[in-house]
Amino acid sequence: MSLSTSRVILVCQNRTCRRQGSAKVLAALQAYAIANLTVKPTGCLGHCGNGPMVVILPEEIWYSGVQPAEVPILIKKAGG
Ligand code: FES
Repeated sequence: MSLSTSRVILVCQNRTCRRQGSAKVLAALQAYAIANLTVKPTGCLGHCGNGPMVVILPEEIWYSGVQPAEVPILIKKAGG
């Protein structure tokens, strides 16, 4: 992936994903300040129970069961 492409990482913060720890995943992602990469909390992504759910746009790359320790890998995948 090119570093020049703008990407958005959506992190579900709806009830089921929050129960599965999505607030910590969001906080870990927000700790990174990377140009062309925006981290956004979002409502239900329609995959409840497989969370925390994360999706990288515009490619629509989906991740399920994301753990805070995996955030550096996500950042790398998103071009950061
Ligand atoms: S609550 Fe996260 S996908 Fe539905």
